[in-house]
Amino acid sequence: MISNFNLNAVDIYIITGASKGIGKAIAEELLKDGNNQVVGVQRTSSIKHPNYRHQPMDFSDIDAVEHNLQKIFLPYSDATKLVLINNAGVLGDIGYIGEGMPNERFEFVFDVNVVVPAMLMNTFLQVYSNHPAQKVVVNVSSGAGKYPVDGWASYCASKAAIDMLSLTVQKEQEMRGTGTKIYALSPGVVDTAMQENIREADAGRFSAVDKFRDYKANGELASPEEVGRKIVNFLYNTNKYKEVIVSVRDM
Ligand SMILES: NC(=O)c1ccc[n+]([C@@H]2O[C@H](COP(=O)([O-])OP(=O)(O)OC[C@H]3O[C@@H](n4cnc5c(N)ncnc54)[C@H](OP(=O)(O)O)[C@@H]3O)[C@@H](O)[C@H]2O)c1
Repeated sequence: MISNFNLNAVDIYIITGASKGIGKAIAEELLKDGNNQVVGVQRTSSIKHPNYRHQPMDFSDIDAVEHNLQKIFLPYSDATKLVLINNAGVLGDIGYIGEGMPNERFEFVFDVNVVVPAMLMNTFLQVYSNHPAQKVVVNVSSGAGKYPVDGWASYCASKAAIDMLSLTVQKEQEMRGTGTKIYALSPGVVDTAMQENIREADAGRFSAVDKFRDYKANGELASPEEVGRKIVNFLYNTNKYKEVIVSVRDM
């Protein structure tokens, strides 16, 4: 519903996966500033705020995503800044390839982590191509896209794809001289439901499970709120970040 939502907002932030974890923390930090309007795109909603709009969407249903894209990218003709944060992501089944992994799970991980972020970025750039606002796309990536983690093959591959998608689209934006900035941002190790899922894995299917259990036991996980603050500070200062691949660890 868009009844409380000001279509003449100043700065528009479209965030996927804003119902929990890192995405929710980013949304709540942004909503502290009355000039910001946030659109959360995911299956469920947990934020109630006059400047927040929920767009329900299940990223594992590509046809439904395609048919509802126009509900996300409204004209926002008075926006001075338009930001898309592709944050929603899934780890998928933990386990070794060739050891009982159901084939249909690959499609699920890639749809949520790669195909829908690519569709949203494509539509965002197309719909707002003539919009005079400052435009930024942040694709949430992971260290796991930069080195192999046994048991996480499809997740690692999906995040590597996010990095290369971001690098390529940034190159295209530079070649077109649009001024639009594209980032692939790694949030670090954050205390969310995704980490709970990781800690529950069987060591026979994921050799590093004890390391992740120790992170929690030793209080070494960053809180979503702390990471959300750092990411929002980054969003307010993107002119300082020239590289496409960025990490919250350096913020
Ligand atoms: N936590 C970490 O340590 C860590 C480390 C590196 C990278 N990351 C990345 O950071 C991002 C956020 O992770 P998180 O830890 O905050 O995860 P999380 O707490 O599990 O939250 C995941 C979010 O994604 C949404 N989502 C999941 N499946 C979806 C689907 N089928 N359709 C639409 N939305 C869906 C969920 O919303 P609904 O359930 O309401 O749909 C939820 O808001 C992910 O891209 C993840 O890969 C996390």
